[in-house]
Amino acid sequence: MAALAELRDIGGDRLGEFASWVADHARTHLPFVAEADGRIVGSAWLHIAGRVPGGDSFDRLYGDVQSVMVREEYRNQGAGAALMAAILAEARERGLLHVTVHSGRRAVDFYLRNGFSHHRQMLLWEPEAP
Ligand SMILES: CC(C)(COP(=O)(O)OP(=O)(O)OC[C@H]1O[C@@H](n2cnc3c(N)ncnc32)[C@H](O)[C@@H]1OP(=O)(O)O)[C@@H](O)C(=O)NCCC(=O)NCCS
Repeated sequence: MAALAELRDIGGDRLGEFASWVADHARTHLPFVAEADGRIVGSAWLHIAGRVPGGDSFDRLYGDVQSVMVREEYRNQGAGAALMAAILAEARERGLLHVTVHSGRRAVDFYLRNGFSHHRQMLLWEPEAP
């Protein structure tokens, strides 16, 4: 839990609060970790959400990848790719309809190389800057 918190820039003073959040969201926010040299060096989260039921289908789940982070000294060694492969295997196993990701500016190519593609029917709204 401490390693997951650190990778999210959450200080030790809020570790208990973070651990409670993770426990409360265990069914919807799945953490994946990358290990190297006996320590956790990266993490990524799969948020699982439900779409509105339709017809006979009441179990329409999709995923959203969030908070992908590999410690700087362990980048470019395949940890990020391994995290994405594990997440997409989980998505397949759970029969998710699709998985989205809101990429950081510099990580778009990383996601394109790891199974994602641009989709012309995915649209995004953001509030105006104040
Ligand atoms: C994006 C990020 C998670 C990628 O993690 P990573 O562990 O470096 O990922 P990989 O090693 O699988 O791939 C990264 C690069 O190394 C290359 N690579 C993959 N396996 C490799 C290996 N075994 N040896 C050398 N290079 C490798 C890939 O081609 C890729 O090239 P790129 O830099 O042109 O994209 C990492 O850079 C990071 O934490 N960035 C800061 C946070 C961030 O941007 N997160 C995503 C925002 S949503």
